[in-house]
Amino acid sequence: MTKLIVLYLLLLNSIPVLAAETATLGARLYSEQCAACHGADGHGGVGVPLALPSFLSSVDDDYLRGTIRLGRPGRVMPGFSKLNNSEIDAIVSHLRSWPHKPSSAKYPHTRIRGNASLGKPLFEKYCAACHGVHGEGGHGTGVTMSRPRNAPILAPALNNPGFLAASSDYLIKSTLMHGRAGTPMTSFLQQGLNERDINDIVAYVRSFEASSPHPSATLLESESPILVQVSTYTLEQTVEKVKVAVGAANLRLIRVQNLDQGFVPKGKENPNQVIVYSCDFGFLNEALKVDPRVGLFLPCRITVTKHGDKVRVMAVNPKRLSRIFNNAELNALCDQMYQVYVGILEEAVL
Ligand code: HEC
Ligand code: HEC
Repeated sequence: MTKLIVLYLLLLNSIPVLAAETATLGARLYSEQCAACHGADGHGGVGVPLALPSFLSSVDDDYLRGTIRLGRPGRVMPGFSKLNNSEIDAIVSHLRSWPHKPSSAKYPHTRIRGNASLGKPLFEKYCAACHGVHGEGGHGTGVTMSRPRNAPILAPALNNPGFLAASSDYLIKSTLMHGRAGTPMTSFLQQGLNERDINDIVAYVRSFEASSPHPSATLLESESPILVQVSTYTLEQTVEKVKVAVGAANLRLIRVQNLDQGFVPKGKENPNQVIVYSCDFGFLNEALKVDPRVGLFLPCRITVTKHGDKVRVMAVNPKRLSRIFNNAELNALCDQMYQVYVGILEEAVL
């Protein structure tokens, strides 16, 4: 009996301890994995605000868990499949610790009966301006400068497989009925739509699933970080051929220099490592419009090296950029630039 009491007391004591541990784990994981985009206190940044009471009161834990696990491919928000269930639950509890009206919202996972073909014109009239005609979401990555100044928050993609899998029809319906106070997303009951219209729009949004993954929601395959070709010419000949190939690809030649120039005394540079700087300014401007941080990562250089009697031509694989950003618009640009660089390297060793 005393043993049982001791056990009971131990359990009683350990419950608050467990809860406290979950709270610290959740806060730590949030600050490590989420704060950079959603803000330390959840007020938003690159990612939408998560601390808004209107948001927290209207979504259920299933939606939060699903969103964290699956992310939004091609829409910056990464998937956290590497976190286990209790880590994800700890993050959800952390979000729930922010002030909001506690809700008992638990949406059923059944389908809402609506008419998608009636929903389509309503979607085009009431939603497409912000969420895109195909539900592909606002443009850019959400970083300031890449979004219109009058848009404090980027409208999320609704055709995204991550969003569609994480959200139930009833959650989408509730979002349309009530809107999200504090964001551009308003209540469509107040905009004059009735519940039947809203059911039709939900059915239309759900119909995106049939055509998903939409091209805007793809991740580029991860590939080698560096593109390499071996040249049978001398280093000097290869550098000349790179210059010609760069011109043929319509890139502007900026300068040619030794890799260690400026780092070693003049005249002592290693002649076996040469960089050809060149840039496609049209591409650069397009990419900067999507996200100004691209400038930090853009390759813009081709390196020619000689080791023993082997001459190699190398460039950073532009597809690496899309691995960093998880953004469909950049993926398309990076893929284009990848073709250009592959072409230049092949041309240079031909
Ligand atoms: C004025 C721009 C605007 C219009 C018009 C608009 N939305 Fe939104 N919508 C937003 C923004 C911004 C958010 C993100 C709100 C947030 O941060 O919680 C959002 C969020 C949502 C969400 C939650 C998805 C998520 O990942 O957060 C759904 C679902 C949604 N909107 C559907 C619709 C539908 C359907 C319509 C048309 C009936 C519509 N919206 C009209 C801007 C808009
Ligand atoms: C690299 C930036 C980035 C990181 C890191 C990130 N997010 Fe996001 N998150 C976003 C963006 C951007 C969106 C909106 C997606 C869209 O526009 O389609 C989003 C959307 C969400 C949503 C849906 C919000 C809504 O209105 O329905 C939730 C929930 C969310 N993130 C939670 C998290 C949590 C929790 C973490 C950490 C485990 C995290 N995110 C990490 C960028 C990020």
